[in-house]
Amino acid sequence: MSGGDREVAEPNSNAVDETARDDRGWNRYGAAVLAVYDFWVHALSDRYLWRCPVERLDRLYDDHLRAEHLEIGVGTGRLLSRAIDRAPSSTTPSSPQHRAITLVDANERCLAAAAAALARTRVSDSAPVVRCERRDLRDADEPTPARAYDSAALVYLLHCIPGQAGKRQAIRFAADRLRSDGVCFGATLVGRPPAGGLAGRLERHYRRVGFFANADDDRASLEQWLDEAFGDVTIEAIGRALLFVARAPRPSTTSRQTSGR
Ligand SMILES: C[S@@+](CC[C@H](N)C(=O)[O-])C[C@H]1O[C@@H](n2cnc3c(N)ncnc32)[C@H](O)[C@@H]1O
Repeated sequence: MSGGDREVAEPNSNAVDETARDDRGWNRYGAAVLAVYDFWVHALSDRYLWRCPVERLDRLYDDHLRAEHLEIGVGTGRLLSRAIDRAPSSTTPSSPQHRAITLVDANERCLAAAAAALARTRVSDSAPVVRCERRDLRDADEPTPARAYDSAALVYLLHCIPGQAGKRQAIRFAADRLRSDGVCFGATLVGRPPAGGLAGRLERHYRRVGFFANADDDRASLEQWLDEAFGDVTIEAIGRALLFVARAPRPSTTSRQTSGR
């Protein structure tokens, strides 16, 4: 893995370096991590460490996945591909006949794994059209991207991105691409692990090596970031996870300036 084995000091929870360029998080998802990711994260950790069983994440997809979908921070693509597999018939909103999906991630291995997972989905009438976009979500965005999507997912992404500016940018990325009646949904882990025990040790390790960058995140900060980009936001706490649904994307400052709105 190109993330290397550098040991760095655990981030000081009071100091957020907005300018730091820390790529260790997404770089850590190599073949070995991806091979165990779904079992370790979604079968074990969701339920036993973070107390948010994966069924709650599945429900977000079942309720909000739409025909033209933007999957942001894709991992193995398993949550999305199994949501497509669960969709009962091509007449339900989450099972449209012509599905177009864009996968966005900084890590090529994740994009390839997710595209392969989608290619294996059980499709009765037509396979989804899948497009991959390799991008670090902290990079500057195009001034006026097309509003081409009905839904966008940001599941377990925000707690991986270092710095508030990067998390805001990822939310803004979704808001700028959704149609006015589109929906953004997701989940992020917040709060402090117990001081002792396996959960605490694991999470401190995740922060040290860069998987987690959420020491300063909480419900109030998530609400603020989402409110900046959406007019209608709901957040629900399930264990250590905050599940969110956001509608009514607001124009970004840039598009407000260019469109004169
Ligand atoms: C914890 S995984 C979540 C995967 C999936 N959504 C899930 O819940 O199973 C985080 C994903 O976000 C990607 N990621 C992390 N930081 C990123 C960044 N700055 N820009 C783009 N992708 C990033 C990682 O490569 C990884 O695929």
